[in-house]
Amino acid sequence: MLVLGIESSCDETGIALVRADGPALPVLLAHALHSQIEMHQAYGGVVPELASRDHIRRVLPLTRQVLIEAAHTLQDVDVVAYTRGPGLAGALLVGAGVACALGAALGKPVLGVHHLEGHLLSPFLSEDPPEFPFVALLVSGGHTQLMRVDGVGRYEMLGETIDDAAGEAFDKSAKLMGLGYPGGPALSRLAEQGDPAAFKLPRPLLHSGNLDFSFAGLKTAVMTQAKKLGDDLEARKADLAASTQAAIVEVLLKKSMTALQRTGLRRLVVAGGVGANKSLRNQLNAVCAKGGIRVHYPELHLCTDNGAMIAMAGAMRLQSGLQAPTRAYAFDVKPRWPLDSL
Ligand code: KG4
Ligand code: ZN
Repeated sequence: MLVLGIESSCDETGIALVRADGPALPVLLAHALHSQIEMHQAYGGVVPELASRDHIRRVLPLTRQVLIEAAHTLQDVDVVAYTRGPGLAGALLVGAGVACALGAALGKPVLGVHHLEGHLLSPFLSEDPPEFPFVALLVSGGHTQLMRVDGVGRYEMLGETIDDAAGEAFDKSAKLMGLGYPGGPALSRLAEQGDPAAFKLPRPLLHSGNLDFSFAGLKTAVMTQAKKLGDDLEARKADLAASTQAAIVEVLLKKSMTALQRTGLRRLVVAGGVGANKSLRNQLNAVCAKGGIRVHYPELHLCTDNGAMIAMAGAMRLQSGLQAPTRAYAFDVKPRWPLDSL
């Protein structure tokens, strides 16, 4: 069975083709990605209308590219999977509209996929895929969640952010320091030259006793510190970046370990854009190695949004029998859609 995946929930157009044979893990045949980051950079963030229009321009050429690379034609595709939500409504509608149009034209069914389930299952595309059950730390631009995962579609929320996501904390702090958009990668690069102990920044909810997160206060503390530094900010930017990253990473690390302890599970899966963060990976690897915990990540290039994770999640849902593809072609996207409601 060949599944074409279409991702268009935010500022990346991603297309991929996977093959799923029987119960074996689906295999990625080809994928292609166009990032809109350069286009949005001038505005300091994603402009939804521009995002939608760009997805329209990219989605079919990228699909052609993927099919050529995989040596297949559109007629070979059995199911068209697309990101149904959460995300920007207009951007989602492009992927859903194209998926439904392709499905209707080819006489093939379509499948709406949850974007976060795509992130969550993306480590199954890596050389070292996890096994169920595991604790998942989902850290994207809009979400920070700890979940217990017992299988495809079996997700129990253990804790989540009550305000900003970890990715948002990276992005907003970076913006305050004039590092541009998206801030996470820029801030983490600069942090490599700084002292993580230079500034005392809050570790929100570190000792709250539950598995929830809060990062809005951290951003305010970074702003206060930046103001205090005044003209010295430029010279101390790397220290401030390193201190900000250290605060975010410490909270993510501590809460992940608590989640593992509480569930008694010995396996951790990290997914979402912030999962590309080097410091987070290094520290998690060290702590998990000491505690005998296996930790899995998506391949670095599949941490941020891409089509491969959508094709993969679609294929795994089909294999699990949880969701039948549909010929209803009702592109009813869900800009807001909690993962544990699946
Ligand atoms: O998962 P993703 O691509 O998009 C969403 O679904 O939101 O995540 C994007 C987020 C952004 O906040 C970005 O700054 C952050 O991931 N990010 C990073 C790094 N790479 C991407 N944050 C910290 N360090 C990185 N290396
Ligand atoms: Zn994402």
